[in-house]
Amino acid sequence: MPSCFFITGTDTNVGKTVVSALLCAALGAIYWKPIQTGTCEGSDRATVMRITGVPKNRTLPEAYRFAPPVSPHLAARLAGVRIELRKIKLPQIVHSENLIVEGAGGALVPMNSTQLMTDLMAHLNLPVLVVARTSLGTINHTLLSLAALRAARLDLRGVVMVGKENRENRAAIEHYGEIEIVGAVPPLVKINRAALLRVFRQTFNRKVFLA
Ligand SMILES: Nc1ncnc2c1ncn2[C@@H]1O[C@H](COP(=O)(O)OP(=O)(O)O)[C@@H](O)[C@H]1O
Ligand SMILES: [Mg+2]
Repeated sequence: MPSCFFITGTDTNVGKTVVSALLCAALGAIYWKPIQTGTCEGSDRATVMRITGVPKNRTLPEAYRFAPPVSPHLAARLAGVRIELRKIKLPQIVHSENLIVEGAGGALVPMNSTQLMTDLMAHLNLPVLVVARTSLGTINHTLLSLAALRAARLDLRGVVMVGKENRENRAAIEHYGEIEIVGAVPPLVKINRAALLRVFRQTFNRKVFLA
């Protein structure tokens, strides 16, 4: 069975792309960001290729790309488009490959007038990982995200923490969220393939990722 995950987060800018890149490098996985906004500032697909050296043919093209750095529902509306789940399909070829799918923003980010990022996760039917900050405020953001993901009956596999280690926050999330912290990415001076692989070896629970 291939290892496939949907990477969501407690917020935008929380480390989803870095964690996705780390998992692509560690698992030899294909990377896919189905909905990319803010292409005026670059794309997460390009960032993953740059920091991991993953070639373009190990990434999939976005289903939707929008220039403004705003929520997908708004970016689509400004472009006169409606984001449709049926247009976001996993190509057959990846069914035998490890796959990392990165969401946009967090769990309840809207895609259109009736659907949220949780609907995309359910549609793709992938196990979900939540990326969370280690710093103050993370307990509330993480517990809220977990509650939303559970309400949507998603297959929640764990939380990955990003930032300077905070043992109390980590313990609180595990206790109150009844969830495993499956990995932790410390602040990295250089984010490259070697550094990401080292973090995977040192802090990630391999049992969760390597079937
Ligand atoms: N472990 C880390 N060490 C140093 N910088 C990080 C780390 N994780 C993320 N960053 C930086 O934080 C910013 C946001 O990370 P990113 O992965 O793009 O977040 P998201 O995908 O959730 O928006 C980026 O500039 C990224 O390089
Ligand atoms: Mg990102």
